[in-house]
Amino acid sequence: MATIDRARLSALLDGERRLHAKRHPASLALYEAGTHLVGQVPMTWMNKWSGGFPLYLEGGHGNRIRVVDGYELIDFALGDTGAMTGHSPQPTVAAINRRAGELGGITTMLPSEDAEWVAAELSARFGMDRWSFTLSATDANRWALRLARLITKRPKVLVFSYCYHGSVDETFVVVGPEGTAQSRPGNVAPAVDPTLTTRVVEFNDAAALERELSHGDVAAVLMEPALTNIGIVLPEPGFLENVRQLCTASGSLLMIDETHTISMGWGGATTAWDLAPDLFSIGKALGGGIPCGAYGMTNELAVRLDAALADGADIIDVGGVGGTLAGNALSTAAMRATLGEVLTPAAFEHMLALCDRFVAGVESVLVQYEVPWSVVQLGARAEYRFCSPAPTSGGAAAAAIDDQLDEYLHLYLSNRGVLITPFHNMALMCPDTTEADVDVHTELFGAAVGALVG
Ligand SMILES: Cc1ncc(COP(=O)(O)O)c(C=O)c1O
Repeated sequence: MATIDRARLSALLDGERRLHAKRHPASLALYEAGTHLVGQVPMTWMNKWSGGFPLYLEGGHGNRIRVVDGYELIDFALGDTGAMTGHSPQPTVAAINRRAGELGGITTMLPSEDAEWVAAELSARFGMDRWSFTLSATDANRWALRLARLITKRPKVLVFSYCYHGSVDETFVVVGPEGTAQSRPGNVAPAVDPTLTTRVVEFNDAAALERELSHGDVAAVLMEPALTNIGIVLPEPGFLENVRQLCTASGSLLMIDETHTISMGWGGATTAWDLAPDLFSIGKALGGGIPCGAYGMTNELAVRLDAALADGADIIDVGGVGGTLAGNALSTAAMRATLGEVLTPAAFEHMLALCDRFVAGVESVLVQYEVPWSVVQLGARAEYRFCSPAPTSGGAAAAAIDDQLDEYLHLYLSNRGVLITPFHNMALMCPDTTEADVDVHTELFGAAVGALVG
């Protein structure tokens, strides 16, 4: 098995950083001019891009992005799923133009007829009966968790270690070295210690889940069907069935967040793996890039919600659930076009087949160079991780983080025209991605690994 020579990695990384600066003087100049912005960028996560400064966008269509330095890149990052439709998909753009320009009325606090169409479509895909809209997956999770506590009259939420569900206070908790819950490293000034609001266990640990649910104080288990924000951690056979059974037995609601796992197909992992959540949340790709999100619930839960609301909780005004721009006419028009005409069954068929090819390409490189890494696929989404076999828990996946390797691979690819997500090593296929694009990645990935260990 090949081992990574750290001195060689450092030297290669220095070379890629120099190349990044040399190739992108216009991006660097814009970054240096950003003196009125926190961290010099419009949103601080944009500093996660490798190389010391991000590339600046000129434009993008389909799976291609043009940056201000004059290059076009093949985009496998796709806005970390926000642009899983490809950039500016034509049906979504037409619907946006019609609503914003022709009809007018971007946000009015009045419902528009698109909302019921979108809700019915979400029901067909994910099986929930009632839906409400938000502007992000974060808000969908926040508001649905409030409702879960209201309905169950229980105070806590349970999450899996190293999950990510948006900037939701209750979710920033991990299993610490002693096996007990602790605030996640880096958690920014929490108002309340999250170990007071949240129980946490490792993914795929049904025994720990049973133990923590037995306290009878968990309103909802909030989970992705596979972890996607610490690499991809797949559920082991039987685990998701166990989770469902344990939730039912303990009276906790099962809340599934499919913001990323919609990559599994037209009906996400819920349909692909025959899951039966009580509550459901999603965001990002729904509107083809226009901000929107949604949470859904079963009829049974909607009945319980109505009963719980009789006690005076206020979801119509300032009770803590809702937002002024949520469900606006522009977002709902974008969702209708995106779900109806872009993220279709045919599109998923294309994307899943391409991802098979992507994974086969990465695997062939790992075998060729005998590198002890792994690659995991989740439908149209794949990710490589610097350990083998692939981790089965968030804690194990976190232990395999290697920032230097991440940066080297990201820069090697972007310096040669390919983008993967700035967070770890995720690549996503969109309806516009082609076999040739996938093969470009395979070739570059092979060259990057070859330079490192060849
Ligand atoms: C599974 C999951 N849920 C929710 C979110 C939050 O999405 P947003 O930042 O668009 O609110 C994310 C973001 O990465 C996510 O991965």
